[in-house]
Amino acid sequence: MSGGSRARAACAAILLLAAAAPAGAEKPPAPPARPPALQALPPQARVDTALAELGRQLFFEPRLSGDGSRSCASCHEPARGFADGQPLSRGYNGSEFFRNAPGLLSVQLKTRLTWDGRLDGADLATAVRDMVTEAHFMNADARLVQERVRQIPALMQAWQRAVGDASEPYAPRLFGAIAEYLRTLDAPDTPVDRHLRGERVALPPALREGLALFHGKAGCARCHHGPLGSDGRAHRLGVPASPAIAGDALRMITLLRHHATMGVPGYMDEREDLGAFAVSKVDADRGRFVTPSLRMLTHTAPYLHDGSLATLEDVLDFHLRGGGAAGELAPVALEARERAALLALLRALSPPLPAHPESVPQDYAVLPRGRR
Ligand code: HEC
Ligand code: HEC
Repeated sequence: MSGGSRARAACAAILLLAAAAPAGAEKPPAPPARPPALQALPPQARVDTALAELGRQLFFEPRLSGDGSRSCASCHEPARGFADGQPLSRGYNGSEFFRNAPGLLSVQLKTRLTWDGRLDGADLATAVRDMVTEAHFMNADARLVQERVRQIPALMQAWQRAVGDASEPYAPRLFGAIAEYLRTLDAPDTPVDRHLRGERVALPPALREGLALFHGKAGCARCHHGPLGSDGRAHRLGVPASPAIAGDALRMITLLRHHATMGVPGYMDEREDLGAFAVSKVDADRGRFVTPSLRMLTHTAPYLHDGSLATLEDVLDFHLRGGGAAGELAPVALEARERAALLALLRALSPPLPAHPESVPQDYAVLPRGRR
């Protein structure tokens, strides 16, 4: 078709459409919205393997922290689903943190990152930068990190394989490499995923009942949906303020500093974790936290943003009771068999951990003087 006849055909098509839908006509009814549901995991992300390998080495590298004392893996341990097993995370030397360290399997599928949702899931590299440079996590300077990488021959080789010989280590690329490694950390596929994809799988009756309750009477899918079982939005379950924060000056100082850096009005007087309010400053967001993923939970206890519940049974009871004061949950009465079915579903989303080979940090080498 020539350019002119293509344009004429397009005009004719527009006229036809206009004739078919005269101004003011009703639009055809939208298909009914499907209720939110758990979804199967998507296929693995395509990653740049050389960049992800550099990122793997950096993930286990303590010299990415100011004083060389801790790596990402100190708080995100592969053997614990990349969480740390503590109710509240540690902080940098001389500080303690006021929230639970989340597991990182399938973190690339999250739409919001951190418990208060302050970071964008589509930008994992910025979350990595936050972890490296924030005073209460790794307290490192991005330019110093570049220089350290330059002095570690094993890392320089991985850098050159990933990025090319000519370039010098550059912090945004280093953070991007760790983000690429995070994109390789997939929660494994389960029989529940195969069932959700419509494959014929013989799911045990308890699991079928668990799925039906999850989407039906127990009301879990309202917030826990999609491939991770998270809507990526913040909700208030009324989790009581954690005595472990109020009773620990180092955690309280970190919390107040977080409020100060987030620009919370009257930040010295806000002695509880405000959740999403610290980001939006909208009163309705006080005490709201982003719905966590339901994948690999048997490896990442304890639970909730403050690690206050030790077992999945405790978490389920808390939800079914209707949560705490001023929360969004309504109580749901279930029989013992139905609770067991929901727990069976949660456990079925936690297959055994795949192996995640750790990288062993290698020595510095003294660079020749006057190089370049
Ligand atoms: C001192 C402990 C500590 C270290 C070291 C640490 N993290 Fe974290 N990480 C945390 C905690 C705690 C959170 C939750 C923060 C919040 O919700 O405010 C978190 C959150 C995250 C998140 C968001 C996860 C989610 O589900 O929202 C990512 C991604 C992440 N860390 C990656 C890393 C990487 C990569 C490194 C190394 C560069 C690292 N972390 C180092 C404790 C740590
Ligand atoms: C109103 C939204 C909502 C509903 C409905 C809901 N949840 Fe949650 N769920 C959340 C939020 C938000 C959290 C985190 C709360 C916090 O830490 O303050 C959470 C936490 C959890 C956790 C802990 C995960 C972790 O890593 O700490 C589990 C398990 C869980 N929910 C399962 C369920 C089940 C099972 C149901 C149905 C009985 C359900 N939820 C219903 C929003 C909801």
